[in-house]
Amino acid sequence: MTGIGRERMVRESTTVVVIGGGPAGLTVANLLLRLGIGCVVLERQSRARVEQRQRAGIVEHRAVRMFEEWGLGERVVGGFPHDGLLEFRVDGESRLLDEADSTEGLTARLCPQQILVQRLIAACLEDGGDLRFEAADVAIDDPAADRPVVSYRAADGVRHEISCELVAGCDGDHGVSRASLPDGALTAYPFDHGIAWLTVLADSPPPRHPLLGVSEHGFAAHFGRGPHSSRYYVQCPPGDSADDWPDERIREQLALRLSVAEPVAGPITEKEVFQLRSVVHEPMHHGRLHLVGDAAHIIAPMGGKGMNLALYEAEVFARAVRDHVHGDDSGLRSYSEVCLQRAWNYQEFSRWMTEMVHDAGDDSLAGPFRRRLARARLDRLCSSRAAAGAFAELMAGLA
Ligand code: APR
Repeated sequence: MTGIGRERMVRESTTVVVIGGGPAGLTVANLLLRLGIGCVVLERQSRARVEQRQRAGIVEHRAVRMFEEWGLGERVVGGFPHDGLLEFRVDGESRLLDEADSTEGLTARLCPQQILVQRLIAACLEDGGDLRFEAADVAIDDPAADRPVVSYRAADGVRHEISCELVAGCDGDHGVSRASLPDGALTAYPFDHGIAWLTVLADSPPPRHPLLGVSEHGFAAHFGRGPHSSRYYVQCPPGDSADDWPDERIREQLALRLSVAEPVAGPITEKEVFQLRSVVHEPMHHGRLHLVGDAAHIIAPMGGKGMNLALYEAEVFARAVRDHVHGDDSGLRSYSEVCLQRAWNYQEFSRWMTEMVHDAGDDSLAGPFRRRLARARLDRLCSSRAAAGAFAELMAGLA
């Protein structure tokens, strides 16, 4: 340790500095650990805070297989079976879509994000990983340098400077990684869906299958989050706030839209409104910095692809680092192109599905012509084996 003025400073060195300890950063760390490659994770929040953050809950089949191939299957995504059935309730009429049917039984796991994060943290620490929580003022000094230096202030006030070969920017949409790139280095492709959702958490049993309600009252959905807890989505006018939605109104609208007498059996514990938006930043690297997950793109939640895309990119990056330490940089060079291909594929899937379930319901946004188109799309999905197969392939992450 050296003293500069009155501030204490530690200089260190590693192969990869990972900024951000969400699903993307923690997966990168676990995979690098298994490859025996030096890696330090810097996470701004405390461990408890990261472990409590509730978000998306489907781990697609491709990602389940990935964790299994890396010897992490049981520890990270064990349990949480999902029978592969998805229920659309269109004007009260039930239509079941069987994902497993078209993907040889390969289905996803309904694993809430906070559980995945807790398990990734546990696996990493058990295997001797270097996770540093409450890392403040993380900064990258010249991501294009031969050996970039990432600095931060630890919880005890000591400043650290870590020199490394590569930086993985896994710090989400509002992180420091993308913000530290020079103007013009990336191009943003943003899209506003013009739709808002009220998300509701309640101590209420999950539905039999993930349930999507399409009707003239607007879109709504009900997903399980554990044996006694559920998450609901209720389409609402953009600009609404949670105050516009007292509990009674939520219960009444969910009953109408899902055609269920008592859709929320227990107390509502949280509600929040958010706008559906999407964005992709290209390319996904600059110099020695590679963006992984939400740091590079946001995908609207319909289809559950945000977290799965992050898991995919974590693996592409880990494999590229493995080749890099053996002198082959081709994986790092193609990283952005490979990831963007899947990113746009998933963006298209998410937009396609978003449009279908919203347009097919209340036609005040899309108009009567598009409402009928969306109904035709939904009918085709539920009646054509080939259409259902293409959908299932995307849900599983195999296309
Ligand atoms: N320094 C260090 N850590 C930071 C900083 C920073 N300046 N800024 C943000 N972070 C941390 C956040 O606290 C968070 O833990 O980076 C992490 C980013 O995690 P996510 O936002 O969950 O992003 P990512 O890991 O890419 O998530 C992938 O899972 O939950 C979904 O919506 C999420 O679709 C996304 C996917």
